[in-house]
Amino acid sequence: MSNLAVLGLQWGDEGKGKIIDLVAEHFDIVVRCQGGNNAGHTVKAGGQVFKLSLVPSGILRPGKISVVGNGVVIDPRAFMEEVDGLRDKGVPVDGNLLVSNRAHVVFPYHPVMERSTEASPGGRRIGTTARGIGPCYEDKAARRGIRVADLLSTDTFPDRFRSIAKEKAAVAAAAGIEGPTWDTDASVAGYLEMAERLRPFVRDTTRYLNDAIRQGKRLLFEGAQATMLDIDFGTYPFLTSSNATAGGLCTGSGVSPRMLHDIVGVAKAYATRVGEGPFATEVTGPSGDSLRAAGAEFGTVTGRPRRCGWLDLPLLRYAHAINHLSTLFVTKLDVLDSLDRIPVCTGYRYKGSPIDWMPAVAEEYAEVQPVYEELRGWNSPTPTIRDFGRLPQAAKDYIAFVQDRIEVEIGGVSTGPDRDQSIIRPGSVLARIAGA
Ligand code: GDP
Ligand code: IMO
Ligand code: MG
Repeated sequence: MSNLAVLGLQWGDEGKGKIIDLVAEHFDIVVRCQGGNNAGHTVKAGGQVFKLSLVPSGILRPGKISVVGNGVVIDPRAFMEEVDGLRDKGVPVDGNLLVSNRAHVVFPYHPVMERSTEASPGGRRIGTTARGIGPCYEDKAARRGIRVADLLSTDTFPDRFRSIAKEKAAVAAAAGIEGPTWDTDASVAGYLEMAERLRPFVRDTTRYLNDAIRQGKRLLFEGAQATMLDIDFGTYPFLTSSNATAGGLCTGSGVSPRMLHDIVGVAKAYATRVGEGPFATEVTGPSGDSLRAAGAEFGTVTGRPRRCGWLDLPLLRYAHAINHLSTLFVTKLDVLDSLDRIPVCTGYRYKGSPIDWMPAVAEEYAEVQPVYEELRGWNSPTPTIRDFGRLPQAAKDYIAFVQDRIEVEIGGVSTGPDRDQSIIRPGSVLARIAGA
């Protein structure tokens, strides 16, 4: 039985949550593999709006199992708040939501450490979500992290936490960190309480997923963040601390690459970015403001206004190369509905010469000159259109242009936030995947 991944291709917030929710009905298990509560996935379904962060968007589909994999970093309090919020909205979470015992835990010293690096005068401010995600992954890589299984070992956890917290306090003092830090005794008590609330969800999810594969179950992998925020392939250092590209799905779940059969890339019909870092096609001033207003581009997690710009085809070609997509889902096409002309970046020039690959160095990427072609706008509303053939001709031309330049099928188009404001092209790879 074939498995599927849904990944963001730009700087996040492409609408991955909506697409996961849309296709989840065809799968048995939805798995998150990386990131933490820096992710914010908004899904509109059944007249309700759900803002998911750590919990996979598959949770909204009855009868599906949602798994938070080993590659995710978990703030137990944020997780339980999300679970309680879902329960309040009548979404079942008991028995159908599992958390990996190998996932690393975010502790109160992580956001404190992050505040210090973000404020450091000599350092480079990333504009993070301030959830302690980067410092938690740092501890994981440094082999001093505390995992969910360690938190649940309540006889040994307090000593372990106290000893690491003491080291962190020394680092914080040496760095002259200002503002509130953490209370170690209160943290121990709070985390012991959280451990008991978390315990019913915890499993060896790697074993669970591999058993499920043997039983012929279909898996849907839910990406968080996106290619240009990937720790290896994004605009380093202005990115997140995990692998948000295809490879991260395997290391973050314990499922072999041979079990990843299809990959759907999700891209907005334009581009956005939250936080610092280069953004070649960024549009500031009134055009950027009107894109932001039309697309309601404010962060789900932090509420920050998202930087907006035009569609960047070299970037999407790069993302396609890294992820080797089966098909592409273009979201938020409706946001362009009222434009007469739509600029699309078709190439980059660097120091006067054309380049055909993403520079590895952020400072170089910041100097890249985008080359634009202007396409005809369609100037008519698309949100009620459910059939690809009924899209305005100029919208179809826009899609065809993008498809030709990226050399990957555009199998789906989204024209509004609702589950049903989605068009899957008949005969496309996406139609085959969704219908199989
Ligand atoms: P994610 O992080 O990739 O899941 O994306 P977010 O949920 O952070 O951001 C996408 C936002 O766009 C959400 O508020 C969605 O409800 C909304 N959205 C998704 N698809 C569409 C679309 O086709 N049109 C419009 N107007 N909004 C959309
Ligand atoms: P979803 O899954 C958009 C950005 C932050 C910051 C950088 C590092 O909703 O697409 P971090 O807190 O991860 O250390 O911040 O990455 N960022 C996101 N931007 N969508 C996200 O997730 C993001 N997760 C992190 O704004 O620039
Ligand atoms: Mg988001």
